[in-house]
Amino acid sequence: MARSAEGGTTRRHRSAAAYRRDPLEFLAEEFGGTRDVWRSASGRLCVAGPQAAREVLGNRQGAFVETSDFFHTRTGVFGPRAAQIDIGRAARGLLRRQLDARRADLPRLVGARLAPVSSWPDAGNLLIREHLRDVLLCPDAPAELHGAVDGIVARAVLAGARERHSALSRLRFRRRAMGLLVRETEARRSTGPCAGADEPRDLLDVAVAGAGPSADPGQVAEVYLSFLFATVGSIGFALGWSVYLAGTHPATADDEPAWIVREALRLWPVAWLFARTPSRVHELADVTAGPRDEVNVCLYLVHRHPRHWERPDEFVPHRWAAPPHEPAFMPFGFGTHSCAGATVTMSLLEDLIRIITRDWHLSVTPSGGGPHLGPALAPPRFTAELHHRAAAPERR
Ligand code: HEM
Repeated sequence: MARSAEGGTTRRHRSAAAYRRDPLEFLAEEFGGTRDVWRSASGRLCVAGPQAAREVLGNRQGAFVETSDFFHTRTGVFGPRAAQIDIGRAARGLLRRQLDARRADLPRLVGARLAPVSSWPDAGNLLIREHLRDVLLCPDAPAELHGAVDGIVARAVLAGARERHSALSRLRFRRRAMGLLVRETEARRSTGPCAGADEPRDLLDVAVAGAGPSADPGQVAEVYLSFLFATVGSIGFALGWSVYLAGTHPATADDEPAWIVREALRLWPVAWLFARTPSRVHELADVTAGPRDEVNVCLYLVHRHPRHWERPDEFVPHRWAAPPHEPAFMPFGFGTHSCAGATVTMSLLEDLIRIITRDWHLSVTPSGGGPHLGPALAPPRFTAELHHRAAAPERR
């Protein structure tokens, strides 16, 4: 009896270690293309069925603690909900205005940053960083803070960044950067966040104004960091996956940019795993879930569920030609917490993919590694070559 209990503990430890090594492979193996909800050997309660995923994320029955990953901070969930909604809406408005104002500059930016050769996935993140520079941090913010934002991108946002810097140097840097962000948050609060302007100048103004005067400045700074990860990180990685897949499947390069982007987000959803905590004991697709469980919705598996997708593991942009009513596709989440930036993100990605595949001949050479797995699912390293079609009409 004692021995079997010990064996169970060892198995659990081994499974937890295997999960830590490669969570995607571990979960895909347990899933086996058939399961909707199961208790994983790693200890989590896993969800790969679209209906169960909607139940968890939509939380219509109030069976889960109400939250979203975006507003999670080290000291708890930023709130109240009304402030979360205001902040999401204001950020979307700011990004929309910026994208409209700078849309005509995209072809130049693609030529300047991606041609003739670029190293990915960093190239995608840095291109988004440059295109959105002024709304990430307005030009008149302190130079030191601009430097800190560049440092955060280099040390925490780019794929593999965490492995390139020691834990101690990251900790020291984080303290300094957070200190600068908190100081700027307090300064903007005392002068009014949008001094001299009717609209927020940048995403820090959005967070400061939406949070109100009594919010913890540390939490406001973390909400700002979520914006940095969502824009430079998530949009950059989604661009990277779209370029990688279009380039490694040349026959699809003439497909609609919107199909390419959707299909890339289906196969490789950048936000691939959501954690939720049940607020009470209840049945989730015949599995009992309770407040001690960590429920993980794995979008990577939802998006490849064989009961919902034909050729689930293949890149088939054309599947999006028929307007889909696809309950197994939720790259921007589902329910009240679904992404505030989804529509602006899609239009930017589609514009970029249109330029890259229509104006340029694209060829991609993988560098040999696999996807980068962290809180976001980032593409593997690869090199992209872009040659302008007008200059080389005979290529391809
Ligand atoms: C490819 C890019 C992006 C992806 C894949 C993405 C994905 C997501 C997902 C899956 C959620 C739901 C999280 C959850 O339920 O726990 C979410 C929430 C959110 N996203 Fe995005 N996002 C992206 C870009 C953006 C951008 C550019 C913004 C800036 C406006 C943004 C703002 C937000 C906000 C404010 C929320 C929280 C919504 C709420 O709780 O009410 N996201 N995002």
